Amino acid sequence: MRMSWLPSTKKSSRESWEDNWLIREVGWEEAKQRFYEAIFALSNGYLGLRGSLEEIPRGSYPGTYIAGVYDDYGLEVPEIVNLPNPLMVEIETDAGRLGVGKGEFFDHDRILDMRNATLWRWTTFRDEKGRSYRYESCRFVSMVDPHLVVQHFSIRPLDGPCEIELRTGVDATTKNEMRPFGGPIAHYEIAKIWKKRPTLLVRTKRTGLWIAYSWLCRFSGGRLLERCTVFKDKKLLECFRVKIPKDKVCSIDRFSYIVAGPSRKVARMARRGAQTSASRGFREIHDLHSRKWREKWEVANVEIEGDKQCDLALRFCIYHLCSALSDRDFDVSIPAKALTGEWYGGHVFWDTEIFMLPFYALTFPHLAKHLLLYRYRRLDEARNKARRMGYAGALFPWESAQTGEEVTPRRWRDFNGRVVKVLTADREQHIASDVMYALRTYLLATGDWKFMRQAGAEMLFETARFWASRVRRNRKTGEYEIRGVIGPNEFQECVDNNAFTNYSARWCLRWAAEIYRELSLKYPSDLRRISRKIRLDPSEVENWVNIAGKIRFPQRPDGLIEEFDGYFGLKDVQVKFDRQGMPTWPGEVPLPEVRHTRLVKQADVVLLLALFRDEFDKATKAKNLDFYERRCVHKSSLSPAAHGLVAADIGDANRALRYFKFASCLDLFDLHQNTGKGIHGAVMGSAWQLAIFGFGGVRLGEKLSVNPLLPPGWHSIRFKLRWRGNLLEVHATSREVRVKGVKTRGPVSLEVLGKRVTVTENSIVSSRYVEEQ
Ligand code: BGC
Repeated sequence: MRMSWLPSTKKSSRESWEDNWLIREVGWEEAKQRFYEAIFALSNGYLGLRGSLEEIPRGSYPGTYIAGVYDDYGLEVPEIVNLPNPLMVEIETDAGRLGVGKGEFFDHDRILDMRNATLWRWTTFRDEKGRSYRYESCRFVSMVDPHLVVQHFSIRPLDGPCEIELRTGVDATTKNEMRPFGGPIAHYEIAKIWKKRPTLLVRTKRTGLWIAYSWLCRFSGGRLLERCTVFKDKKLLECFRVKIPKDKVCSIDRFSYIVAGPSRKVARMARRGAQTSASRGFREIHDLHSRKWREKWEVANVEIEGDKQCDLALRFCIYHLCSALSDRDFDVSIPAKALTGEWYGGHVFWDTEIFMLPFYALTFPHLAKHLLLYRYRRLDEARNKARRMGYAGALFPWESAQTGEEVTPRRWRDFNGRVVKVLTADREQHIASDVMYALRTYLLATGDWKFMRQAGAEMLFETARFWASRVRRNRKTGEYEIRGVIGPNEFQECVDNNAFTNYSARWCLRWAAEIYRELSLKYPSDLRRISRKIRLDPSEVENWVNIAGKIRFPQRPDGLIEEFDGYFGLKDVQVKFDRQGMPTWPGEVPLPEVRHTRLVKQADVVLLLALFRDEFDKATKAKNLDFYERRCVHKSSLSPAAHGLVAADIGDANRALRYFKFASCLDLFDLHQNTGKGIHGAVMGSAWQLAIFGFGGVRLGEKLSVNPLLPPGWHSIRFKLRWRGNLLEVHATSREVRVKGVKTRGPVSLEVLGKRVTVTENSIVSSRYVEEQ
């Protein structure tokens, strides 16, 4: 039976799909396949599947990840486990196997429909006897049931009747290979298989987690000659031998249920899940899944009118942000590559808190809370880390996995493939402030004091404690210094008084004191409880304020901030710009020499100005952006949007747009040529921030303020924000800004274009730009 809601295979109708929700692959090239696998990854934040083709062509890298499933077998630090691939399909004719890269194929294309996170595929194969077959497939990872993967595929013989075998199942030969060194490692072992009601149970080797895969197939069309399940070469496959008349469609809907847990019981859960899902059927499940995505897009979608490419690129970023985190609290955070690849071991960096979390805080605040809870539940490990290093309080790990211990590897390869020591675990300490910055973003967006009382304040006080013990007083100058750190710009390591680190430490100490005061006024019993728990007394808090007032911040009288002590004394090498105005590496500097120059890997001072945008004036921002822009090579994807944010802040919309395109297209066009290893979650979040905080001009404070700046070519930007329990919609054109109360708890007062306004549910307030009045 052909499903009526499947798009027609006719090209013309496919092209008529609304383009700005679709990402396409036309044709197949082995060299581009990993790139497509990453950008076409489907995930619900619990389960992530790379977008590999079902037949697993040569060079393909199937990746199946479950958030929080790590293992360290054969390694010094754990990595996220590449689990068995549940999507395998083999099609065998009497003239051999069909597949791209195998026999002949043509007319191959795929479409990712971001509206409902469904991946479609159409391919025509020709077997060795010259007979053609039309193959179609679609798949999705349910946004409703985190364990469920649904797949539909069909085959239609075009040249005559055929007898073929369709095999589909789980491939348990997958290994972790995405690592700078070391051979492939299988982090799991097969524990048991069941052929009846096909089920596979595997167990991770060191962490001892059980993962079960069970599925049920619904077969239709063609005449079924034989159906059986085989287990061979670590592949558990259900086989269908069928006779199909010419031009008739034979299809299979497959419902796979994947569960991870501490006991073998997961097998039973997986079987039950597969059974229930199959009884509901493809269409019903897809409808529910699509509805859930529609609800997400209702809030998260951003529309950019006038610039289709920016509109699509940003939607693509939002698609991956929505995919990266489950609505359920699985006690996990988001790896740098989300669940689209295992590069960086699936570790969690500051990428999550500084770059991605603002998106969640302002769209789905419960998700931002889950991310913060992930840190809070690992506060003891952060305490241990600080203690081991001889400090007080808590220092979060630079790289984190499941336990919250520091998991940064000690060695890595640099951009030239040289093995280098990694010092970030001990030295990149701004992570302490980064997590607190995220906490403040969450608090500003939600006003959730309950969370502060239950978890936030304790983390904050422990972080302030860390900084207070980390600083050293310089007897000569009387200033407090932070020596021997790595700032966001990782080119120059072990520097003294990195402006970003010092400033954020100072901010942290002050904010901790402020929160202490507020708690003492508003929630004294909570403060007493927390103080008792962590043995905090008011004199310690006074000391924080005292230290904060004297932390060194290297800035010249003309406003230029010195990235760290001695930076201005380094050799001044500047970047060259390409035709798009983006920097290129100055050829004369070999990578090992870069630390002797003023070249900057990624926004450092500029990021500081972007994060603390209200604490620096325009002139300071302009001066520093001009200076550091000429020295920044943006070797990290985290960097361009920060430059864009500062450019937008100083009113340079053109320049901001250039950075926005760089950031939002970085993965879509593989600008760093490493998207195949997984998308860059942080770049997605940073592009969103540039759109909303930069062009949308949104500022979070005691009040929300909106002061848009549309770049050339954009007619308007429209987005929604959840602000303190209210859902607002902002629509900014070059003439006016309209704010609508979509769902409000009562009157919401905010500032639009500098004027105080109040919106209520379903009301719209509009403000015009002053020049236009
Ligand atoms: C960047 C870090 C980032 C990490 C993971 C590194 O190249 O320098 O700032 O956290 O990648 O994305």
